[in-house]
Amino acid sequence: MNLLTAINGRRSVRGYKPDPVSRQELEYVVKNAIWAPNWGNTQPWEIAVIGHDIVNNLSEEFVKKVKAGETANPDLDMPSVWPDVHKNRYVSLGRSLFTSMGIERGDKEARQNHYFNMYRFFGAPNAIYIYMDKGINVHYGPFDIGALSNNICMLAHEKGLGTCILACVSHYPDVVRKYINIPDDKKIVIGIAVGYPDENHSSANFKSTRDEDIISWHGF
Ligand SMILES: Cc1cc2nc3c(=O)[nH]c(=O)nc-3n(C[C@H](O)[C@H](O)[C@H](O)COP(=O)(O)O)c2cc1C
Repeated sequence: MNLLTAINGRRSVRGYKPDPVSRQELEYVVKNAIWAPNWGNTQPWEIAVIGHDIVNNLSEEFVKKVKAGETANPDLDMPSVWPDVHKNRYVSLGRSLFTSMGIERGDKEARQNHYFNMYRFFGAPNAIYIYMDKGINVHYGPFDIGALSNNICMLAHEKGLGTCILACVSHYPDVVRKYINIPDDKKIVIGIAVGYPDENHSSANFKSTRDEDIISWHGF
């Protein structure tokens, strides 16, 4: 697959077929993804690849907590305030996604179901968690994990798999630690849903946008 086609073709997938991904394919993704550039080759990441049954258990427990209104307690601080320009893009993403999915503005139930579904990894059969040592107190740890995550998404895309990076699945780290042996001296940074895209899902045709006016040129 040509690189530009791959970059343009990848999207966050929010609807999956139930078919589990083989260990062989997941190995291809993670073993090649770790060639991401990183600070001084410190490789600040650790990766947990998650099977179907554990994804199901996590999903059930997350949704229970969300329905009960339990406050999120992530290892990594979640952004609470965004400058307006970024906040507007965030709001616009939600609006255009719901419009594309045929969810009306006043349809509270459908919106809520989408929200719960997010905590169910959007129905993906597999997931990948990335965590790092709590002793890494600089931003470059998560920066490097960003590069790793993008490699995971691109390599999965190359294999016909869909992904969605999900901050929400790290909201309740105690639940994650119950099923995955991640010691307390590690920070859970992010989870990524992985599976075969359901091309008949209502979100399948949604494509996010990008602003190009954030690029400036100097000395040309
Ligand atoms: C750090 C990070 C956290 C994210 N968390 C979520 C999430 O919790 N729920 C969700 O639906 N999408 C999540 N996303 C996906 C973004 O919404 C998505 O990447 C963005 O809208 C751009 O769309 P695209 O990936 O289809 O190009 C996350 C992406 C990143 C990089």
